[in-house]
Amino acid sequence: MTELVVRRLLIDLDQPVARHWCNNDAFLTAWFNALSMSFPVGEQFFIDSVRQGYKALPPAQQERWKAEVQGFVGQEATHRRIHGLFNARIEQHGLVNDWEPRARARLELITGTDPRHGLAITAANEHFTALFAEWMLAHPGLLDGCEPRLKALWLWHSAEEAEHKCTAFDLYRALGGDERWRLRWMRRVTVIFLSDALRQTVANLRRDGTLWRWSTWRSGWRLLMGRDGLLRKSFGPWRDYFRADFHPEQQHSERSQQWLREHQNLYTRVGA
Ligand SMILES: [Fe+2]
Ligand SMILES: [Fe+2]
Repeated sequence: MTELVVRRLLIDLDQPVARHWCNNDAFLTAWFNALSMSFPVGEQFFIDSVRQGYKALPPAQQERWKAEVQGFVGQEATHRRIHGLFNARIEQHGLVNDWEPRARARLELITGTDPRHGLAITAANEHFTALFAEWMLAHPGLLDGCEPRLKALWLWHSAEEAEHKCTAFDLYRALGGDERWRLRWMRRVTVIFLSDALRQTVANLRRDGTLWRWSTWRSGWRLLMGRDGLLRKSFGPWRDYFRADFHPEQQHSERSQQWLREHQNLYTRVGA
């Protein structure tokens, strides 16, 4: 069992966020904005899926899971709330969240099905977020040109994603989740997640008027495909998910706990 602490991040999102808040870089800003747009609907779905999975456990097993499920739900609920505030700020620049209604319509299709489907989808998405989180924590310098409150937002979220990455996966296994379905959902989630993320990034750039700038494409290439780029570095760890003996804990690093230890001034513990 993973002990999950719920933390309240002490940042002020009442103040406006600059149009190119991420290092004055149009692509980086559009990419992070796109991800943030997916969080409120996505994280609510993860919460619902984990809750439904928990309810489907035999009562004798529920006690064992109670604290971890509460921690998971608390962390994701805090993320979705704070990203909702952040999204309201970036939408003041004329951006429109097209991802959320698309995701909502798709998720409706699995409403009422076996709770293991929701958990497999959640586990696949959590693998993605854990990979991105590890990459972010390994490259915090990427956010050095951002306001400290925004750097804190992204690294705190990354640290907690790395921390709770096992919950949906373990619950899926505890409910006897089928291996073929686990992999099938990962393939689907990969296509859907990457195409949605790129579509929303392009839409953000178009509305920002920076889509056809050379500097935008150069920055995009460097972030995603450069020598140390996000997609290039994450491909191997992403593929590990297809191994029969895969477990998220195998990709554990110390970075998440280290960040949380070194930045205790940035948050309070909820319920402590
Ligand atoms: Fe999250
Ligand atoms: Fe998560």
